[in-house]
Amino acid sequence: MTVDVLGQLQIRPLARSDCKREFSCGVPALDDYLPKFAWQHEQRGIARVYVLDHTSGLSGVLGFYTLSAKSVRKAEIQEAVTQALPSFDIPVFYIGSFAVASAAQRLGYGRYLLADALYRCVQGAEAVGAHGVYLDSLSERSTTFYASLGFVAVGDSKTPQPMYLPMSILRMA
Ligand SMILES: CC(C)(COP(=O)(O)OP(=O)(O)OC[C@H]1O[C@@H](n2cnc3c(N)ncnc32)[C@H](O)[C@@H]1OP(=O)(O)O)[C@@H](O)C(=O)NCCC(=O)NCCS
Repeated sequence: MTVDVLGQLQIRPLARSDCKREFSCGVPALDDYLPKFAWQHEQRGIARVYVLDHTSGLSGVLGFYTLSAKSVRKAEIQEAVTQALPSFDIPVFYIGSFAVASAAQRLGYGRYLLADALYRCVQGAEAVGAHGVYLDSLSERSTTFYASLGFVAVGDSKTPQPMYLPMSILRMA
């Protein structure tokens, strides 16, 4: 299903009041993020938090994601990269948390939010060097979701499953 056909949705920076709104996506660590950590992380420069809701403000938070800077070792992303990489740590963007409310899942909101996150990464990479976008997928379901948007599973861990999308691929999309 296509979302926002009527232009009634917005993805915007976190407001303090969002942290007091109900949000449940079925993963307790992510459900706790808005009330317990989001505002603090924003204030301390640990993450930028972006929220999806209706412009009317009546729907509550439909979804959110966080973006941060991170560095990874070459070996951690090697499977997703074809060109040579330097041996020092590689700068990347990191999607630390990503969730859509349970009642709003499977309606295309996740795809919409991820496209927004990736767009911000492409824009950010114009000003700051970043080789790609890295995340840790928490479940098989989310791994399928990220893979459907171009992320490749990397590393040995399965839970969480690290995934990577090089900027060179992203810029071609
Ligand atoms: C994973 C999650 C973000 C997906 O968001 P969503 O809004 O439900 O996903 P979309 O409707 O945009 O789906 C996009 C595509 O992802 C895949 N996908 C999404 N949910 C899926 C599921 N439950 N099973 C299999 N594939 C799925 C499909 O390819 C889907 O395309 P389709 O509907 O045309 O088949 C959401 O289910 C969620 O928040 N889950 C709980 C929290 C979580 O796991 N967050 C990720 C932590 S790393």
